[in-house]
Amino acid sequence: RDHQVKQQISLLDQASQFYREQLRSANTRDKAIQYLQQRGLSGQIASQFQIGYAPAGWDNLIQHFSDQKDATSLLEKAGMVIHNEEKNRHYDRFRDRIMFPIRDMRGRVIAFGGRVLGDDKPKYLNSPETDTFHKSRELYGLYEARQSNRQLNRLLIVEGYMDVVGLAQNGITWAVATLGTATTEQHLIRLFKLVPELIFCFDGDQAGRKAALRALDIALPALQDGKSVRFLFLPEGEDPDSLIRQEGQSAFEQRILNATPLSTFFFNNLSEGFNLDSMDDRARLASTALPPIRSMQPGLLQQMMLDRVSEITGLSAEQLASLINLHKISQP
Ligand code: UTP
Ligand code: MN
Ligand code: MN
Ligand code: MN
Ligand code: MN
Repeated sequence: RDHQVKQQISLLDQASQFYREQLRSANTRDKAIQYLQQRGLSGQIASQFQIGYAPAGWDNLIQHFSDQKDATSLLEKAGMVIHNEEKNRHYDRFRDRIMFPIRDMRGRVIAFGGRVLGDDKPKYLNSPETDTFHKSRELYGLYEARQSNRQLNRLLIVEGYMDVVGLAQNGITWAVATLGTATTEQHLIRLFKLVPELIFCFDGDQAGRKAALRALDIALPALQDGKSVRFLFLPEGEDPDSLIRQEGQSAFEQRILNATPLSTFFFNNLSEGFNLDSMDDRARLASTALPPIRSMQPGLLQQMMLDRVSEITGLSAEQLASLINLHKISQP
């Protein structure tokens, strides 16, 4: 098994090199290079992220490995080749796409994301789960962020590949992206081992706001004294890449400075739709607030958030604390 993993890693590394060569030598290289330029990326950033190009055609990658024994089935295991059982045919998963290699903490390529150059669907294609690639754990750009920063104090968590790369192009070299999945508890545990501060910055759209609410839920139990989480909300229709290209590094950094602390986001969101002049609403607010606060680790922030609920509702902090404990005991 260990041998197989090594083989797979070596294969993915060779695939990544192949895709990069295509930006230099393929006769279709021009449109790929043009695409990267049009997105504002320099050759230097492209090479730092080892961005490449999978040319059009059904079996360029398979052909590239044709002199290696069992390569096709290994490529299939690595998620790079698809086996059509009906037609008993193998073909490349990634065709005519800009390729973003996903690297692990040691810099080894473990998967890819690929973007179409035009408006075809799906816009992005990702490697499937494999022995070496677990989406709910990995983050795009983490290796690169660690390489570019002698000491990392914080990480910006964004949605997409282009956000990470576009931010780096504009001087913000500490962004990472979840891989087309929601932020997971595993992501946060992992990131909090590396840095004390996380800033979520999702797209300025409905999906982005939903992702922020989900991130809030997941962040509450992961927080500990000395760690912090903030949220940077973007103007409607923008994402980090589009915004930093428009307004530049220092304007974006100003937004980061002003990002919303977790507790502020929590209480803004909590009081929405409640009329605090009404006792009934204050009671409802307390019962909405207690479960998430209960999910937090005991500590200063939990205490302060309880105090705030107490201020809002008029219940004493002791009453609230005992409610939390009661609920804890009555849980199965
Ligand atoms: P977005 O649709 O916001 O993409 O999806 P983007 O990164 O801003 O795309 P550009 O700027 O048009 O290139 C955010 C992320 O969600 C995942 C990808 O990881 C993408 O970067 N995604 C999106 C998919 O996996 N598949 C898709 O079809 C679309
Ligand atoms: Mn097969
Ligand atoms: Mn989006
Ligand atoms: Mn975008
Ligand atoms: Mn986006």
